[in-house]
Amino acid sequence: MEIKKLLALLLAATMTLSLAACGGGETSAPESTTPAETGTTETTPAETGSAGGNLVGVAMPTKDLQRWNQDGENMKAQLEAAGYTVDLQYAANDIPTQVSQIENMVANGCEVLVIASIDGEALGTALDQAKAAGIPVISYDRLIMNSDAVSYYATFDNWNVGVKQGEYIVEALDLENAGDKTYNIEFITGDPGDNNINFFFDGAMSVLQPYLDAGTLVCPSGQTEKQTVATANWASDAAQSRFENILASYYADGTQLDVVLASNDSTALGVANALASSYTGAYPILTGQDCDIANVKNIVAGKQSMSVFKDTRDLAAKTVEMVDALMKGSEPPINDTETYDNGTGIIPSYLCEPVVCTTENYQELLVDSGYYTEADLAS
Ligand code: BGC
Repeated sequence: MEIKKLLALLLAATMTLSLAACGGGETSAPESTTPAETGTTETTPAETGSAGGNLVGVAMPTKDLQRWNQDGENMKAQLEAAGYTVDLQYAANDIPTQVSQIENMVANGCEVLVIASIDGEALGTALDQAKAAGIPVISYDRLIMNSDAVSYYATFDNWNVGVKQGEYIVEALDLENAGDKTYNIEFITGDPGDNNINFFFDGAMSVLQPYLDAGTLVCPSGQTEKQTVATANWASDAAQSRFENILASYYADGTQLDVVLASNDSTALGVANALASSYTGAYPILTGQDCDIANVKNIVAGKQSMSVFKDTRDLAAKTVEMVDALMKGSEPPINDTETYDNGTGIIPSYLCEPVVCTTENYQELLVDSGYYTEADLAS
């Protein structure tokens, strides 16, 4: 009896393993998966089964942040309109999930992979498999580091995103004419495993550092280093609690907070929540990036000063052009061969242009262009 049971168990285990190896099993949700993300596998069995030489794998980091939903939807729609079949997967910000999704894409016969990585250093084995299978990899928005499997990079001009945030602050406070006047500033950026923070944060600092050096900008918390002001997973709640601490420790005596450099909207949202709960002084200038709906509402309500708009329709369109060229054996569009070295050499890139969004132009930029409807932005 015991031996029979053991054999049955072994058989079951072998079947599970071989199913997983074929990629036929459903993507299992890791424990950290939020309910909203369980079942976010957007591949239908028909799609995975129809690898007729035109299957494109699109790996997105998470559904938690609005922009990745838009990126995924835009790319899927545009790729399908161009005649491709799409295996679109979201990984709930869980690295092992993303690795196995990419492994399945390789096993299922995807001919091009488009990957927005959770952690740009953590996809090693999956990328090796793609390379061994001769599948080109397009790094999407975030650069995948230290892998020679990466063929192209489609993104926005990330340095310029930071520069625009820095310039906005300089102009809003008229720092060039500040004289002896000083302003208090605090900083927050995103996930340390996201190569983009090196461009967002360093780009902003390239504009702001001279004013810190001159003493025109003062950081009461002393937290000015990128690693210190980073936010795991770009999480709003982590941003909120860090700022609640900062406000309690350095501003509770009535010290005025004049400006917060936040690298993106999810962190800016956390800062705005902390300000709402723990700060009564004059509202500071607060930057952001992405024009997420909650943040555009905050801009309209005077709780965030600006966001940097990165039109995901443009990035998706450019990526689709890249995929199409790779599928047809022609040269993908690139406009930068200098900026993005992933540790194995320069990755040929296409950089889309980011645009500053404020109360002045959000209507034209976001509503008139059809990115959002009036109803999306209604409070
Ligand atoms: C993207 C930003 C986004 C952030 C958090 C970055 O890599 O470039 O647009 O706000 O990730 O998802």
